[in-house]
Amino acid sequence: MSILPSAPRFAHHDVPLGIGEASPPVSWTTSAPDGWTQAAYEIEVRRVSGTTTTGRVPSDQQILVDWPADPLVSRERADARVRLWGSDGSASAWGAWGSVEAGLLDAGDWHAEAVGAPWVENEDKDLRRPPLLRRAFSTGDLERARLHVTAHGVYEIEINGARVGDDVLNPGWTVYSERLRVHTYDVTDLLAAGENVIGAWLGDGWYRGRLGFTHHGHTFDMYGDDLSLIAQLELTHADGTTTTIATDASWRASPAPILSSGLYDGETYDAREEQDGWSSPGFDDAGWEPVAVRPARPERFVSPEGPPVRCTEQIAPARVLTSPSGARILDFGQNFTGRVQITVSGAAGETVTLRTAEVLQEGEIYTRPLRAAKSTDRYTLRGGGAETWEPRFTMHGFRYVEVSGWPGSIDDAVANGDIVGRVHHSDMRRTGWFESSDPSLNTLHENVVWGTRSNFVDIPTDCPQRDERLGWTGDIQVFAPTASFLFDSAGFIENWLADVAIEQLDDGTVPWFVPTIPGGPTWNPIRTGAVWGDVAVLTPLTMHERFGDAHVLEAQFDSATAWVERMIREAGPERLWRTGHQLGDWLDPAAPPEDPADARTDRFLVAQAYFAYSTARMAQFARAVGRTLEAERYARIAGQARDAFRSEYVLPDRRLTSDAQAAYALAIRFDLLSAGERIAAGDRLAELVREAGNRIATGFAGTPVISDALTDTGHLDEAYALLLETECPSWLYTVRMGGTTIWERWDSMLPDGTVNPGDMTSFNHYALGSVADWMHRVIGGLAPAGPGYQRVLWAPQPGGGLDHAEVRFDSPYGEIRGSWRREAGGIRYVLETPTGVDALVRLPGADEQTLAPGSVLERFVPTP
Ligand code: BGC
Repeated sequence: MSILPSAPRFAHHDVPLGIGEASPPVSWTTSAPDGWTQAAYEIEVRRVSGTTTTGRVPSDQQILVDWPADPLVSRERADARVRLWGSDGSASAWGAWGSVEAGLLDAGDWHAEAVGAPWVENEDKDLRRPPLLRRAFSTGDLERARLHVTAHGVYEIEINGARVGDDVLNPGWTVYSERLRVHTYDVTDLLAAGENVIGAWLGDGWYRGRLGFTHHGHTFDMYGDDLSLIAQLELTHADGTTTTIATDASWRASPAPILSSGLYDGETYDAREEQDGWSSPGFDDAGWEPVAVRPARPERFVSPEGPPVRCTEQIAPARVLTSPSGARILDFGQNFTGRVQITVSGAAGETVTLRTAEVLQEGEIYTRPLRAAKSTDRYTLRGGGAETWEPRFTMHGFRYVEVSGWPGSIDDAVANGDIVGRVHHSDMRRTGWFESSDPSLNTLHENVVWGTRSNFVDIPTDCPQRDERLGWTGDIQVFAPTASFLFDSAGFIENWLADVAIEQLDDGTVPWFVPTIPGGPTWNPIRTGAVWGDVAVLTPLTMHERFGDAHVLEAQFDSATAWVERMIREAGPERLWRTGHQLGDWLDPAAPPEDPADARTDRFLVAQAYFAYSTARMAQFARAVGRTLEAERYARIAGQARDAFRSEYVLPDRRLTSDAQAAYALAIRFDLLSAGERIAAGDRLAELVREAGNRIATGFAGTPVISDALTDTGHLDEAYALLLETECPSWLYTVRMGGTTIWERWDSMLPDGTVNPGDMTSFNHYALGSVADWMHRVIGGLAPAGPGYQRVLWAPQPGGGLDHAEVRFDSPYGEIRGSWRREAGGIRYVLETPTGVDALVRLPGADEQTLAPGSVLERFVPTP
């Protein structure tokens, strides 16, 4: 077998077009004979100005290595390829070329203004009708065309009647005042010599639509009250000259068939208002008005780091139900984030109404958990044949849809495929899989995947269905390790972390949700709280650990230290943190529905545990970016905080002051105890689990650590018992109750099938799904032991009566696959690693061994 590097990948881009990095780091995977290791690489870069090469660079690195040439300039395209040398003296041929193209990197590249409707809008902000915008222009022969586009609001573009791309809800949600994302499209094929038309749909989205939670009031016009398009279409002609068509006063506007549209509330569309051919040549726009023009402020424009939101799957209804009240309800059989697409025929003026819900109660759609989100789409037919429609600028989290006003038979429509669910989320590459011999465990894992898909919708949200959908910092802090195994989430999360740094207060306090919006007295002014605030330190470290991205540590260093310094000041010279707004072990199942922070574990114990842990991790963070002095200081303070934890919360008999699962789990997992205390804590934790009948007693803080805490202290059986329990509360209780996602509360649905009376009851929250990370690392056995999985620890710990388990991970280096299976007289283990990844292998009952990069280990370990 010969040695061959792949075409290079640039930064975290799946499609490196219009990127914002002038010097994008380069990665490749390598196919090579077993055991082959890289000793050197060479990267050649070809661009209009010429070809350059790094020459032979002695290095074993292949992930995110520095851009090997002069920085790209705006619009510049470059090709790059790689060749390699092995430690054994071997040499590869050149790999395939990969191409990258920069977007507009400087504010000075922009001529576009922000253009929108010139008319006075409805005073009721819920009922503002968005405009359509258009501009006709002529061109000669074209070599290439690029569209750079963003908006105040959300947009969809059409050129000559065809939709540009398939991205949804662009530009997504960032702190628009500081960072507004511009997407770049290659639209060469949509244009032709002669007359052309570019047109845009707009919607309120996050920019000016309704945001916020029921009890704290809603916010409109968070970033402004205009709805505007900012676009620059750059045409390069055959003779090398260029023409730019930018949004300016020459564009025209007319009311859209969308009568109103909101992320929470749904969309109302009247097809009788459609204007045929509006985005095509030959349309008479004399009735359209000149647009209103505002400044575009390009100094805040950035390019996307991660993928856009797209429809990634279509699902047909599994059942069509008739409710006791006579309503017709479609059950998609899966809770997901997305929308419904209908194809309908009927008379002009008939209106189909679609209302979504996550659950049924007494046979009817149950919408109380949606709180003030109306989640209702309305389509009024234009008549005259089949009409296909899907709302453009809303999103719902649902499994059921109540359909009313359908002309004709709904059953026939479903049978004909005329009503489908369209799953939407940030279109990240799936990278991780887990399977075992236990079907309910596999369902649980599948539910975690659906929880990720449902809540990675441009920002990491808490939930997709109710009037919230905010980037809650604590939720992603605990879930990022799981998400990073399941999906290539690096670009997605790193983009959001940049906003965390922006929204962080001057005193280092990290907001509860990013981007921040007014949240009423509970959340504003923003007070300091552990677990949530720790995202600033722990999540960049997760990105480094899982994706080998050191750049994110540099980028987030100031944000991370600001958070740790904030805790240090709050804790004072005693290094004991007893202040702040602490949510503690949020949603402990014993907390009353109306007070989810009233947990069994002292909320200040949780804060102290996080203070000590994050400060210790901050020392590693500082060391990784070469800040030795800071590293030493944080290590010292972390030690003091640990001592303070012990004197405040560990009793002389080695019990903790909160004799609760979360307390022991945090103390063990965050390494806050002496050796003797740790053993005692592990024993007590295991005892508490047994006493609880293996039912979970932890919330957002304890759940992500309890399984590891048991495992690390030698209580593997209890860890499995907890995972495999099916009574309420437990993970598999949710599976037994028919859950298809991870719930916000252990008992979002009560054992009698009714919905938890709490005001916060989502069926699609990912935090409690963080146990999947343990399933990958302990059942499947695969854990990163070096940044980006350059080195892995493979240490499966079979148990729980399972006969078989398998993990598969498409790491930055290529696929890693590990499995074990019980056979007569023992267990057979198999591990496969790609070139570049070596493994430390620890199998129960066998000596530790290492596995060379790019090889296969098969080992049968007999039962003693
Ligand atoms: C959200 C969360 C969040 C919590 C914090 C809830 O409303 O849905 O998941 O972390 O508030 O209080």
